[in-house]
Amino acid sequence: MNFELTEEQLIIQKAARDFAQSVCLPGVIERDEQQKFPKEQISQLADLGFLGMMVPEKYGGAGMDTISYVLAMEEISKVDASVSVCMSVNNSLVCYGLEAYGTEAQKQKYLTPLAQGKKDGELYIGAFMLSEPEAGSDATSQRTTAEDKGDYYLLNGTKNWITNGSSASVYLVMAQTDMAKGSKGINTLIVEKDWPGVTVGAKENKLGIRGSDTHTVMFTDVKVPKENRVGDDGFGFAFAMKTLAGGRIGIASQALGIASGAYELAKEYAKTRKAFGTEIMNHQAIAFKLADMHMKIDAARLLCLKAAWEKDNHKDYTISSSMAKLYSSETAMWTAIEAVQVHGGYGYVKEYHVERLMRDAKITQIYEGTSEVQRIVISRGILK
Ligand code: CAA
Ligand code: FAD
Repeated sequence: MNFELTEEQLIIQKAARDFAQSVCLPGVIERDEQQKFPKEQISQLADLGFLGMMVPEKYGGAGMDTISYVLAMEEISKVDASVSVCMSVNNSLVCYGLEAYGTEAQKQKYLTPLAQGKKDGELYIGAFMLSEPEAGSDATSQRTTAEDKGDYYLLNGTKNWITNGSSASVYLVMAQTDMAKGSKGINTLIVEKDWPGVTVGAKENKLGIRGSDTHTVMFTDVKVPKENRVGDDGFGFAFAMKTLAGGRIGIASQALGIASGAYELAKEYAKTRKAFGTEIMNHQAIAFKLADMHMKIDAARLLCLKAAWEKDNHKDYTISSSMAKLYSSETAMWTAIEAVQVHGGYGYVKEYHVERLMRDAKITQIYEGTSEVQRIVISRGILK
């Protein structure tokens, strides 16, 4: 067992930390207040190779391992979770899904610019569309239909809560082709945002990750060529589940970053703020909160790294990624609330950052499978 990071992993971690401090930190409070999509930050992430981190270089990616991805996600999420959710969706849902299950032609046409995050010099990212107004956790109950018309599918329906909904150029859309086959009748289709029949709704006004662009997207008689189906006929739900196992490592790392960002702020504050004639860190109630934060964050990090290691070593990481996501998101929520408490009244205002981290933490317990869904995946996995 070796807990040391390699030299390359340390370099990536430092690059991500520097990027978070120099590019993400300036304006983070204003972007949150104004719900401004961090386009400039995402564009610079693309230039750094962080939008296709694990994609092989021959498809425009950086060819890094999943451990490096966890390290980078943690550092960026310490500062701006609206940037990191966009990074997570593009890397581990869209790029990974196409790399693992796409055809060579799909990889050339879509994966390569998506991994570079740019096409013709413009931002080029993707979105993953499983959720619907009546099919969130209950993801097999897809109402969106992809009617088989011979050489194309006719796509109709509504997807909601879509991250990168308006800024993405490419969507991976899950839709029902054959209701009678249930989950085996679902297909995943590659859809371009500017095709006729695609309509993007208004941006959601959210509690947290307010810079991230979350939208409802409607499809009306959208013609999707057969060659844009990912995998065999009926593979769409399995595709979603397999891809989400990797996606959950991304969101686990996001939660880990939110937790460690909140902890670092709380620790520094506790060293300087005085009450009753001494720094508040000298009050055991505060010191013990910091001890618990440190311990839980370390445990969350180990779960994230183990899931990443399993993925890099081609093992089944379904249970590990759900455990990492569940534990890290619970840790993020708890740590961020306690970090506000350590700051007292100052924690309740925007300038000290912890109130934003507390709002951002909540979503990590909901998206890419709620905490309850992670417990379903873990319990089914260990009991089967
Ligand atoms: N690989 C292959 N097949 C799989 C599979 C996998 N990993 N997981 C499930 N399947 C198959 C099952 O074997 C089953 O096949 P049979 O009917 O032949 O047995 C079929 O798919 C249906 O599976 P389940 O019976 O397990 O399905 P279920 O209805 O009980 O649901 C669930 C299981 C775990 C709750 C699943 O629906 C789920 O994960 N829901 C949460 C959805 C989710 O995470 N959404 C995230 C959207 S993306 C997002 O959120 C992005 C973002 O915010 C940034
Ligand atoms: P529901 O499924 O209705 O759940 C409601 C409550 O019931 C939850 O507490 C849930 O855990 C619980 N529950 C449901 N079923 C069970 C059960 N069997 N056992 C125990 N408890 C249960 N989706 C995408 O496809 N792509 C995206 O890019 C995307 N981005 C998102 C961004 C944001 C900001 C948000 C808020 C959501 C996003 N989602 C996205 C959707 C997200 O994945 C869903 O919100 C999530 O899966 C939960 O679905 P739901 O909201 O329909 O809640």
